[in-house]
Amino acid sequence: MTTIAVFASGRGSNFMNLYQAIQEGQLTATIGLVVSNNPGAPVVQTARSWNIPVRVLSPTRYTDPQQYETDLLHTLAEFHIEWIALAGYMKKIPASVIRQFPNRIVNIHPALLPAFGGKGMYGMHVHEAVFQSGAQVTGVTIHFVNEEYDQGAIIFQEPVVIRECRSPEEIAEKVLAVEHQVYPRVLQQLLTHPFEVVGKRVYFNQESETP
Ligand code: GAR
Repeated sequence: MTTIAVFASGRGSNFMNLYQAIQEGQLTATIGLVVSNNPGAPVVQTARSWNIPVRVLSPTRYTDPQQYETDLLHTLAEFHIEWIALAGYMKKIPASVIRQFPNRIVNIHPALLPAFGGKGMYGMHVHEAVFQSGAQVTGVTIHFVNEEYDQGAIIFQEPVVIRECRSPEEIAEKVLAVEHQVYPRVLQQLLTHPFEVVGKRVYFNQESETP
């Protein structure tokens, strides 16, 4: 069984949803660790109450960025982490961690990248920008993490039609429901099927269905 770490900064609904998918057998993995940069995040409380190990590591609390990277790498090794799933994680993943987990760090983004991504584009900021833009379609993107915000190879996208949405909050609600449907499915596919990354594209071999 694959041991994954979930990195999260806030509410943690995707974390809870992944945990539930594991309980229900849809995702054959173990959440061995939750990493957060935010000690006060609801996700930290939830994970603790479920007896999942939690480590709070905030890069801004370190004077030496190298020490932060070392501590993070040690923590991931200590818990035998094989894959990392970002779920509302608002900090950049250090290059050394990306090198240690090649094509094994996954992020979920609440829009159709490459639109509405990049630094500062997270959570409600994304939905506000989408709302203001007048776009009638947004969606969910699941991608590998590289050294630039929201620029790694795209694994999966699901469009969400928002023609009738009257507020960013309404968009957020529709998109989050889709995130919860697709994230466990896509992770399961990644953990159980061979794939190939060619540039920014990810291909599963022909026998496996699209997640
Ligand atoms: C989710 O909508 C996720 O896609 C988004 O933050 C929210 C976290 O919600 N992530 C990003 O914007 C990353 N750029 P959650 O804490 O309830 O899972």
